[in-house]
Amino acid sequence: MPRILTGIQSSGKPHLGNLLGAILPAIQLSKKEKDSSFFFIADLHTLTSNRNGADMIENNLNIAAAWLACGLDTQKDVFYRQSDVNEVCELTWILNCFTPFPMLQNSHSFKDKSENLSMVSSGLFTYPVLMTADIILYNANLVPVGKDQRQHLEIARDIAKAFNIQMGETFVIPEAFIQEHVMTVPGTDGRKMSKSYGNTIDIFADDKKLRKQVMSIITDSTPVEDPKNPDSCIVFAIYSLLATSEEIQNLKETYLKGGMGYGFAKETLYQKILEYFKTERELFNHYISNPQLVEEQLLFGASKASEIAFDVLNKARAKVGSRAHDKKRML
Ligand code: ADP
Ligand code: TRP
Repeated sequence: MPRILTGIQSSGKPHLGNLLGAILPAIQLSKKEKDSSFFFIADLHTLTSNRNGADMIENNLNIAAAWLACGLDTQKDVFYRQSDVNEVCELTWILNCFTPFPMLQNSHSFKDKSENLSMVSSGLFTYPVLMTADIILYNANLVPVGKDQRQHLEIARDIAKAFNIQMGETFVIPEAFIQEHVMTVPGTDGRKMSKSYGNTIDIFADDKKLRKQVMSIITDSTPVEDPKNPDSCIVFAIYSLLATSEEIQNLKETYLKGGMGYGFAKETLYQKILEYFKTERELFNHYISNPQLVEEQLLFGASKASEIAFDVLNKARAKVGSRAHDKKRML
């Protein structure tokens, strides 16, 4: 049985694109496996780009609440905050010593920022090494990631293999799991929905903000009475991701008939979103109002994750001649 593991950067409330493109497919995938999958909030990675503690705490809560609200089963699966499992930092150091400098120089995370070296921290430079430790510390086999993370996974494999070759079989070699069929959700301006474009539909925002975002979707200026083309309309495209085939067909006919204003289509989409994500939105608000519930779940996950991490790190410690630890650190 493959062990699935993935990390999630903590960058605020997830939007519709994050939900349909990453969170829901990952949870679905984990539900198909009998064994535990591992999901963690990669707060130490986020630290390479956001060094505001208060922000981090808020973002971690939002992300964790979203995953829990989307149905992550914390009894079966292991859900934790990266920084709660100290072993990951020690393993990162050991792996740093097995990582050739040029390998990191070629990594996108560094290369994209390397024009202005004074802004590049060592943390950003060794980002892929921490990511490697995240994965191999838990004997993970399959790592679901977006295409942008493919190279980091190649680096993780190379580092793990280099260690195994030099020190003897120690780590499981992980594989990227890139879900090619996962959809790209358009944003309110028709480009890919992304926080960096400011074109998101924030499923976990309050009704008023959510409605405003839906109403801001760009449409053409076809007069109300004229027929409209559903296939070139962003409102229709987003609606099609959520509605049943019968509902899609109905709205399509309304577009083609004419006499429909885009305000109607947007209102229909807004109502669909409220209906589709009703449970998730209620649960999310429940967790945000009771952050101790989220904290309990994360610490429970960290204690399960630490058990494996402790053993795997000990194996690596023994290989490099550090003393194997014999007592468990308490969280
Ligand atoms: P953003 O672009 O808003 O900063 P992230 O880069 O943090 O989003 O993405 C987190 C996860 O959500 C990634 O796995 C990414 O592939 C997925 N994702 C982000 N935007 C979309 C989208 N518009 N459609 C589908 N998946 C998306
Ligand atoms: N770098 C990943 C991203 O930005 C997040 C991440 C950190 C991760 N550690 C990981 C993903 C380990 C998979 C496995 O999306």
